[in-house]
Amino acid sequence: MPKSVAVRVPATSANLGPGFDCLGLALDLWGTITVAFADGRPAGGEDSMGRMALAAARKVLEAAGLDSKRQFVADYEGSIPIARGLGASAVARVGGALAANELAGARLDREALLSIAAALEGHADNATPAMFGGLQVSVMDRDAVLHARVPLPAGLSAVLLVPDLYMPTKESRKLLPATLSRADAVHNAGRSALLVAAMASGRLDLLDAATQDRLHQKPRSKLFPAMFAIFDAAKQAGALAVYLSGGGSTICALATENQGRIAEAMLRAARQRETPGRTIITRPTEKGAEVIG
Ligand code: HSE
Repeated sequence: MPKSVAVRVPATSANLGPGFDCLGLALDLWGTITVAFADGRPAGGEDSMGRMALAAARKVLEAAGLDSKRQFVADYEGSIPIARGLGASAVARVGGALAANELAGARLDREALLSIAAALEGHADNATPAMFGGLQVSVMDRDAVLHARVPLPAGLSAVLLVPDLYMPTKESRKLLPATLSRADAVHNAGRSALLVAAMASGRLDLLDAATQDRLHQKPRSKLFPAMFAIFDAAKQAGALAVYLSGGGSTICALATENQGRIAEAMLRAARQRETPGRTIITRPTEKGAEVIG
């Protein structure tokens, strides 16, 4: 049995506009979670990523019927911005679950590990692409996560504006309406279905219409007043579509060209509105979490 396991997990961008809690895209931006038996090392000194990884690891050991009282330590390393709507919590939970399972002799399959990670998250939109890669549609069905991969068009980039602004998902979810009008529900259901069809069939011309949302972005803009001005700047610079990534504060612009120009335009619009940040130009990845050592 190994004493330490490291798992590489991609960042993810959830919602993609109207697909609240059900759409998520893996990005070519990676973090590594290492879980090890403490055996002599002082346990309990983890940061928030380490604590989330350990909580997932304990659930896996319980589900595998192993003694979870044995002490573990967990570390995170990587370049994924934390608490910025890029799925860092899913990296910790998927990484912790997968690493603990390897430590315990791989008793659970990836679907069972995904259910554990998604239950801890409260939604599966980040956890599924973190585990399996690609663009994923996920729904929670009692204890299981039902999910399917959507084919992606070639040549798509994700241009990210990562503001310094911290937008805790728990807090920003409280701003969302408890109910939607029928017109708004129809709007979001139709557009998230259109987005999946547009991606699968390479209809890039539909991406702008298909990423429009009437559920979460506007209420969240109360915490991030510059949001829609940055969307406009990205589109004027050539973005095909722009949306708030997960619960924010990252804004993701999808593009096949002009990536540098779009990044600069978003940064300029953000700075003009006292929202400093940085940009990352990356692309979707079809690869999910993998055990690396
Ligand atoms: N779907 C979730 C939300 C994603 O929007 O709150 C959080 O990363």
